[in-house]
Amino acid sequence: MTKVAVVTGSSSGIGFETSLLLARNQFTTYATMRNLNKSQVFDTALKEKIPLTVVQLDVNDDASVNHAIDNILKENGQIDVLVNNAGYSIFGSVEELSLEEIKEEFETNFFGAVRAARAVIPAMRKQSRGTIVNVSSIGGQVGLFPFFTAYHASKFALEGYTESLRQELNEFGINVILIEPGAVGTNFMENMKTAKNFNPNDSPYAKIVQRVFEGAQVMMGINIHPREVAQVIVNAVNSANPNVRYSVGRDAESILKRRAQLSDSEMEQWVRESYMEKKGFIRD
Ligand SMILES: NC(=O)c1ccc[n+]([C@@H]2O[C@H](COP(=O)([O-])OP(=O)(O)OC[C@H]3O[C@@H](n4cnc5c(N)ncnc54)[C@H](OP(=O)(O)O)[C@@H]3O)[C@@H](O)[C@H]2O)c1
Repeated sequence: MTKVAVVTGSSSGIGFETSLLLARNQFTTYATMRNLNKSQVFDTALKEKIPLTVVQLDVNDDASVNHAIDNILKENGQIDVLVNNAGYSIFGSVEELSLEEIKEEFETNFFGAVRAARAVIPAMRKQSRGTIVNVSSIGGQVGLFPFFTAYHASKFALEGYTESLRQELNEFGINVILIEPGAVGTNFMENMKTAKNFNPNDSPYAKIVQRVFEGAQVMMGINIHPREVAQVIVNAVNSANPNVRYSVGRDAESILKRRAQLSDSEMEQWVRESYMEKKGFIRD
């Protein structure tokens, strides 16, 4: 039986590659995005003659999510896989970020994933099968960078929510899994927002912001291609017994190894040296 997959944030990066790879693996794939002017994924799918449709879906918007999912269910009668991928980061000190900016970060990275899950769960429960993939981050396991507090918090929230939701949906045959990439070469850094109240000429944080930003840029530059993350996602959804979480990339693995070995204060020191001294996370 053909399986139906829905991916959020498919206009670029991990969502783009995951939509294509699912379609190449014969999933009837709905590559969703908030802005249909960015539907290049459709051109690639058309050339390859793979089963991919582009659908408008803004994860911040109830009506948009419900409309998209209802139509997909009407067309297919089923949804087997939901990949909650849409996300972005905001950079800024807690003092200078507005509460609104922090809430907006949660609106997309956390509530966006919850909203889409709520839309598909009734159908998956009736089918007694389905996989929800939540694209978190290694930054959902460890608070790595200062000034990315809102981003880390939104991904930590996604992780705790996923662990609990797994138990809730287990007896209905629905699996919920986490993907935790390290640095991936996408539009993520270009799409990053900065606190509106941050003024580099005036901020007490200006010097440290500069150093952290440079450290983060260097580390984000040592990255993997988003198709590697897509491959992990497709392997997981094709697996009869997927893991709860998948870290992706050598940096992510190195961070988890340290987290298991070091005390909290040693870990903090290791992380600080990684970005302040630009030593990077890939260290043996
Ligand atoms: N790149 C990394 O190093 C990295 C590492 C760990 C985890 N991640 C996670 O991976 C996921 C994908 O990011 P990426 O690296 O592929 O970055 P990306 O290239 O910037 O892609 C982000 C995608 O999310 C979409 N998006 C943002 N807000 C949305 C909304 N309200 N509704 C629908 N779509 C929305 C963007 O759409 P627009 O084109 O319209 O903006 C874009 O398609 C994110 O959840 C991110 O946190 C990334």
